[in-house]
Amino acid sequence: MATRMVVLSLILAAFLFCNPSQAFPFGRGGAGYPGLFPEFYQFSCPQANEIVMSVLERAIAQDPRMAASLLRLHFHDCFVQGCDASILLDDSATIQSEKNSGPNKNSIRGFEVIDEIKARLEQVCPHTVSCADILALAARDSTVLSGGPHWEVPLGRRDSRTASLSKSNSDIPAPNSTIQNLITFFQRQGLNEQDLVALSGGHTIGVARCVTFRQRLYNQNGNNQPDMTLERTYYNGLKAVCPNSGGDNNISPLDIASPVKFDNTYYKLILYGKGLLNSDEVLLTGKVARTMELVKSYAADESLFFHQFANSMMKMGNIKPLTGSKGEIRNNCRRIN
Ligand code: HEM
Ligand SMILES: *[C@@H]1O[C@H](CO)[C@@H](O)[C@H](O)[C@H]1NC(C)=O
Repeated sequence: MATRMVVLSLILAAFLFCNPSQAFPFGRGGAGYPGLFPEFYQFSCPQANEIVMSVLERAIAQDPRMAASLLRLHFHDCFVQGCDASILLDDSATIQSEKNSGPNKNSIRGFEVIDEIKARLEQVCPHTVSCADILALAARDSTVLSGGPHWEVPLGRRDSRTASLSKSNSDIPAPNSTIQNLITFFQRQGLNEQDLVALSGGHTIGVARCVTFRQRLYNQNGNNQPDMTLERTYYNGLKAVCPNSGGDNNISPLDIASPVKFDNTYYKLILYGKGLLNSDEVLLTGKVARTMELVKSYAADESLFFHQFANSMMKMGNIKPLTGSKGEIRNNCRRIN
């Protein structure tokens, strides 16, 4: 028995030393994510965290909405062929950019900030930090800078050499989703109902365009009636921002009470009928007991929400990462090498 342990340890040690890019392959992440771990750049780019944070501090001070935009960028990256920075690729001879999909077009933003972070990292540690890891770090730091929880980001993702416009159209849930749609879309990514409710709390910051919530105001069920779950004064305010036709790009905060503060107000507003998107309100009204209970729990206990948001972000950040020798480290996040 003892000799068996020694032999096993030797094999393990040999594996670790021969494989520096994959040291600690067995879930050193603390949360048990094989392949990814927070210390990935400890020796190759110890300044990586600071560089991301310093660019974001300035960008978010200048434009507070940027925090929300960067958080969403990581979500839309991870849900489309995994967290591989596929969303950052521009149109080219071989790439049909995800930036032109229904959920992204005229909507997703933050690319210039990612470019700036990448440029700084290339100066300090050339060809080392992936664009996919930059997205994961930027999402975490945006959360922290908005007043939300901190977590150690498991790192070591590599960048894809492909994008998928069609998956970007089919794998990101629509704002008029039913609760069953939402559960199904998250399940496909290995995320459960708790992840769905916690991650939807990302809507505690940022804004949405009129086109994404108009159906609720004028024709929720094809009968020219509004969504009856909308609180009356909130509904009247939304109509002023979002007419029945025109004004598609007029915006309204997802959390009208504290639009740039990462807190649990999002859930409290849902309890009052003041969730902006159908996908927000149905977490409570969709007749699924589990999501309904979770909305109430997070509304009542901000630290519980923060804890579960951090956990679910790590889970989402681990969707099909490219590791080892798969993919590449892009020189420029907008194109493959
Ligand atoms: C549950 C399913 C989800 C749906 C249906 C959904 C839908 C939307 C829609 C329609 C918008 C507004 C887009 C526009 O106006 O063009 C939006 C914005 C946003 N979403 Fe989601 N989302 C979901 C989940 C998430 C998740 C998981 C996160 C992050 C953890 C997230 C973070 C954000 C943020 C921060 C914004 C504001 C972006 C900005 O102001 O630039 N969303 N979402
Ligand atoms: C959601 O909106 C799309 C496009 O506007 C529409 O085709 C679809 O029927 C809507 N779904 C529901 C459940 O209302």
